[in-house]
Amino acid sequence: MCGIVGYIGNRQADELIIKGLERLEYRGYDSSGIAILNGALKVHKKQGKVAALRAIVNEHDTTGTLGIGHTRWATHGEPNDINAHPHLGGRGRLALVHNGIIENYGVLKNALMAEGHTFESDTDTEVLVHLIEEIQREGNLSLEEAVRLALNRVEGAYAIAVIDRENPDILVGARKASPLVVGIGEDEFFIGSDASPFLDHTKKVVYLDDNQIASISRTKGLKIKNTANETQPPFIQELDLQIEALEKDGYEHFMLKEIHEQPQTIVDAMRGRISSKDGLVYLRGIEEFANRFVRANRIIIVACGTSYHSGLIGEYLIEDLARIPVEVEYASEFRYRNPILNEGDIVIALSQSGETADTLAALELAKQKGAMIYGIVNSVGSSIARLTDAGSYIHCGPEIGVASTKAFTGQVTVLTILALSLAQKLSTISNTELQQYLRELELIPEKVREVLEENDHIRYIAQEIKNHDNALYLGRGYNFPVALEGALKLKEISYVHAEGYPAAEMKHGPIALIDENMPVIVMATNPSAYEKIVSNVQEVVARKGRVIAIVNQGEKAISKIADHIIEIPATDEPFSPLLSVIPLQLLSYHIAVELGRNVDQPRNLAKSVTVE
Ligand code: F6R
Repeated sequence: MCGIVGYIGNRQADELIIKGLERLEYRGYDSSGIAILNGALKVHKKQGKVAALRAIVNEHDTTGTLGIGHTRWATHGEPNDINAHPHLGGRGRLALVHNGIIENYGVLKNALMAEGHTFESDTDTEVLVHLIEEIQREGNLSLEEAVRLALNRVEGAYAIAVIDRENPDILVGARKASPLVVGIGEDEFFIGSDASPFLDHTKKVVYLDDNQIASISRTKGLKIKNTANETQPPFIQELDLQIEALEKDGYEHFMLKEIHEQPQTIVDAMRGRISSKDGLVYLRGIEEFANRFVRANRIIIVACGTSYHSGLIGEYLIEDLARIPVEVEYASEFRYRNPILNEGDIVIALSQSGETADTLAALELAKQKGAMIYGIVNSVGSSIARLTDAGSYIHCGPEIGVASTKAFTGQVTVLTILALSLAQKLSTISNTELQQYLRELELIPEKVREVLEENDHIRYIAQEIKNHDNALYLGRGYNFPVALEGALKLKEISYVHAEGYPAAEMKHGPIALIDENMPVIVMATNPSAYEKIVSNVQEVVARKGRVIAIVNQGEKAISKIADHIIEIPATDEPFSPLLSVIPLQLLSYHIAVELGRNVDQPRNLAKSVTVE
């Protein structure tokens, strides 16, 4: 996590960097800092949001055309002013910002302390900048060379940006397993954890690869080497991303904006991939590897958090429609449990950010073991997207609210298309069924729009139940992973404890929790388990639980006994998660707002989890 920004050019760097940090705040927001070079290094750091840093910078002279900035999500050392980045080398010559973890920092720190170094902070980052500065001093080296030699002694993950008080014409960035992108403007360059900090200035970018070091000079431009000292030509890309995508567009929070974008983002995820008119279902990644997919022994889906929940829906979809066995694993468990994999297996990674450390490591393991690896990713050019053999973007645009919403429905949409495409190739559904499914899928964006019209009603329910300390989410079949996702959404942004369960599991334990203080949110939209769900709701009502039921329009039995109902349009069962998750997103959003939580930046969380 953590966000990095750097600038070198002819304009004042401070405002560009602070504005860039505000765009990157989704990556971490417990403290931030800036270093500007103008003869001396001017460093300001502050615990709290970037707004606190801005206030300090406004009171000081920070003129200068070269600088770096950082917004932090603490790993080593509590969030405070001292542990905030940038950190300085032992002699105050270098300033450095870092995203990632230096795993061998203890060994390095001891060695440096034995040579007389003292450290102000508890961070691994301060050790790294001391190391680089020491190597530079001993060998009288350029900044770039000192960075290269130091990185050869470092284990772990990093994206860094470094500046040198003795050389006002150089900004150095490097990465390994944490993202870093260089923006190329007219006589100016930017560095960012992603392109959002500089999107209003340039769309020309170079995504650094692992072990690459970019040295950027106003006069000599951008040069890239790897840590083995080989020069590498920069691969310049033009981004197709609009600045409006990074604004709230009149909504109070990014999360609410992103929830409301879903009718469009689902269309974007489908675009060019399905057509009921032509019976078309087409995912380029699948077409390229069609033989591998149709002969696959097994598909294993690896992911974390919300992406794991869409993976579970993927399991239901692929097994139900295409009859290929699927397993879904938390990436963090998969990578450490010596999984059995062979060449007939396909491993699919789901990730919004494309940078989640555990998912990336799980994929690397799968690749080593000879499995084909496929990515379903939102962030274009991200590490997972570049590691995979093939894949499909979900095309949702930037998701800035820390709680994932539109990426979830984007992932489920692509998984649905993937399942239908495999079903077509394997003839596990007939052409008539396929046509029918495609027709219904095309209606989903409009049905999502209809669900969004329930917003005011859902806000009212949120006001009614906001003061409960717990909640239970129940669903069966395709709606079970949706129950897990609803509970996660509530936990992460409102800090209310919530659990998701398959509805029938309730009687094996959780039913003991039910009394008048337990809101139970039930998804009861799917015909195949409808009667059973009605019975489950009756069991809750009999114990005085407060039932909030998501039902199909016109439903009768549950509507009579539930405390609140949210009616949504009916759809084919495999597509039901795309509709039933929307009220749950809105419910957690409104409860969090009612409780006065910071919806877009909940405590302790960060959008992109690039540490293990
Ligand atoms: C929850 C949430 C997280 C992410 C998880 C994986 O709302 O956003 O649980 O889903 O950290 O992130 P990605 O999808 O970027 O790999």
